[in-house]
Amino acid sequence: MTTRLGALRADYLAGLRTYLEDESEAGLAYSYELGRRAMMERLGLLDMAALHRAALDTLVLPAPPSDQPRLMEAATAFFNELLAPFELSIEGYRAALTASEERFQLAVSGAMAGLWDWNPQTDEIYFSPQFKRIMGYEDSELPNERQAHFGAIDEQDFERVTQSLMSHLDRRQVYDVEYRVRTKSGEPRWVHSRGQALWNDSGEPYRMVGWILDITDRKRDEEALRASREEMRRLSAHIQHVREEEKARIARELHDDLGQQLTALKMATSLLESGVRTDQPWPAQSTLNGLYAMIDELVESIRHIAADLHPVMLDDLGLIPAIDNLIDEFSARYGIRVIRHIDPDAIAFNRECRIDMFRMVQEALTNVARHSGASEVVLDIVRADPHCIVRIVDNGRGAAIDGAKGRHSFGLLGMRERAALLGGEIRISSEPGAGFALTAILPLASLEAKDASSS
Ligand SMILES: Nc1ncnc2c1ncn2[C@@H]1O[C@H](COP(=O)(O)OP(=O)(O)O)[C@@H](O)[C@H]1O
Ligand SMILES: [Mg+2]
Repeated sequence: MTTRLGALRADYLAGLRTYLEDESEAGLAYSYELGRRAMMERLGLLDMAALHRAALDTLVLPAPPSDQPRLMEAATAFFNELLAPFELSIEGYRAALTASEERFQLAVSGAMAGLWDWNPQTDEIYFSPQFKRIMGYEDSELPNERQAHFGAIDEQDFERVTQSLMSHLDRRQVYDVEYRVRTKSGEPRWVHSRGQALWNDSGEPYRMVGWILDITDRKRDEEALRASREEMRRLSAHIQHVREEEKARIARELHDDLGQQLTALKMATSLLESGVRTDQPWPAQSTLNGLYAMIDELVESIRHIAADLHPVMLDDLGLIPAIDNLIDEFSARYGIRVIRHIDPDAIAFNRECRIDMFRMVQEALTNVARHSGASEVVLDIVRADPHCIVRIVDNGRGAAIDGAKGRHSFGLLGMRERAALLGGEIRISSEPGAGFALTAILPLASLEAKDASSS
């Protein structure tokens, strides 16, 4: 350190000597450069003070007293330039920041932050080792050029970042941006960048210091949250819609089906009445049989509408018989064979989970009928501790599974929701032409949790 200090002392002395003669801008710039050099060599402010003191001893003290005030003033200006880089150094910067809460945070996050220090005049830039690490580089790999970082900024954000930088430098607006970058390996990441420029007396920025933080995880969480909120919003809008449709359907069935049957029944009874009034012989058994048949039909219609609303069998007989019944109706209606691998006693399904389980199977079968063109379905409901696995596999045309899909398809979304409510998940595998396989993996703990009665 002494030899470095020695060399610096000689340069400072020479620089100050010239400056005392011409007081040129170039002289001041030279002093500033020496200050930077001293910092890079890890010299401290006390070293600088000693340096200056020695120079004063050599250059100012021997001068005639009448010259001394001017020389002292010039030497002080020269010395201030030497100190400027220290004042602006990151340590100095951080210390100055404790003043405000927000700036305090900068100091706290300093450990994780990657620092940069840029000279807008020369375009020289310094990246700290942590900065390079964030960008996926070894310390020696990333050149100290602005372009080395600018080139890594995602092109969708580039314009915004440069705009923000320019309005900071030109109009002193806050430079605080979040943008996407690509690391050395091409991996996309999000960074948060803040910086503060320093302007000289003529208003030109001569230095800008700042940091970047890797905020990829936060961004990912935000994005996942946003997506799931959006999904929930769509789902609940859909539920409203379905409810309305359901009401309309029930109203139609009540009106068309029950209404008509009741009208017919009323007509038949009024015929009966007119028979009674005109003293005709007591109605024949056949007339009464007709009335009974109508009433039976009415009862059947009501049963049908009610069963559609809520499968009563679920409550009366339990989940597996209700599913068996569902499958029988499905096969009869669509002519699709269903091979079941269900061990009815393997799992003691509790009351709460029944409707969710039932609706999942129902939706899967509806999809098979609607989308697959399959001739055969294999349905498994098996115990695989600690899970219950429900698998519905068809031999139909399958589908391309892509994430973007499903804007308006709520069947699968609803199934996922139900599975999630039970603490499980839905997995789908399918390829066009190769059938569709849907698997619900559900924790037994929530299916079998004790309640008043189990099936
Ligand atoms: N068994 C299946 N075979 C082929 N494609 C299916 C099957 N099940 C679902 N799909 C595809 O997945 C999409 C989403 O299903 P779903 O969420 O139930 O919506 P919807 O049935 O209202 O179209 C369907 O539109 C269909 O393209
Ligand atoms: Mg569907």
